[in-house]
Amino acid sequence: VSEVRTPRLVLRRFSPDDGPGLHAVLRDPEVVRFEPYGPVDAAEAARLAAERADDPSFWAICLAEGALVGNLYLHLEEPAAWRTYELGYVLGRDHWGHGYATEACLGLLDDVFAGGAHRVVAHCDLRNVASWRLLERLGMRREGEHRAATSFADDEAGRPIWTDGYAYAVLDEEWAARP
Ligand SMILES: CC(C)(COP(=O)(O)OP(=O)(O)OC[C@H]1O[C@@H](n2cnc3c(N)ncnc32)[C@H](O)[C@@H]1OP(=O)(O)O)[C@@H](O)C(=O)NCCC(=O)NCCS
Repeated sequence: VSEVRTPRLVLRRFSPDDGPGLHAVLRDPEVVRFEPYGPVDAAEAARLAAERADDPSFWAICLAEGALVGNLYLHLEEPAAWRTYELGYVLGRDHWGHGYATEACLGLLDDVFAGGAHRVVAHCDLRNVASWRLLERLGMRREGEHRAATSFADDEAGRPIWTDGYAYAVLDEEWAARP
């Protein structure tokens, strides 16, 4: 599918015209604090919008009236026969606290499980409380705590700064059995 609708949102494929909308979201250091990249400038946002327009794993989260408020990532992992997807999400700071991320993820997970997915996984930094609370609202299970498994920055001496993260997952049968 190329579009998923929820009560308040439209999830659609990216377009090369989404640079300014993406810039408004990703320029904010608070929004990208736990992402593997830093704040994004206008030129980089334009490049990302063009790249994501050709990448079926990225979805623009838009309000019904059209404004882009964030993005979802749902990527089929290898081997494809395992039908396992990785979920990611980013909302602009002005749009936190309205349930938009929950609503968008529910819509996309309904869609991917209806399409035959077996398992959806997600990872987040231990300190990213908003992120793991979202995963628990979605009914995903905490499966593990990964110690010093990722590094997105180096210290002054050039040594990696390691970060700890939680791993979450939900299976097709668990999704179907949700209350
Ligand atoms: C992770 C992120 C998307 C979560 O956003 P969020 O606003 O907390 O999540 P939701 O959109 O689901 O909104 C839930 C909040 O809205 C409230 N809310 C208001 N109306 C609601 C509604 N109709 N439905 C559900 N929740 C609603 C909930 O009570 C909850 O607030 P609380 O946290 O104070 O209890 C956001 O923090 C973000 O973009 N962070 C930066 C990017 C990032 O770190 N991504 C993850 C990397 S792993």
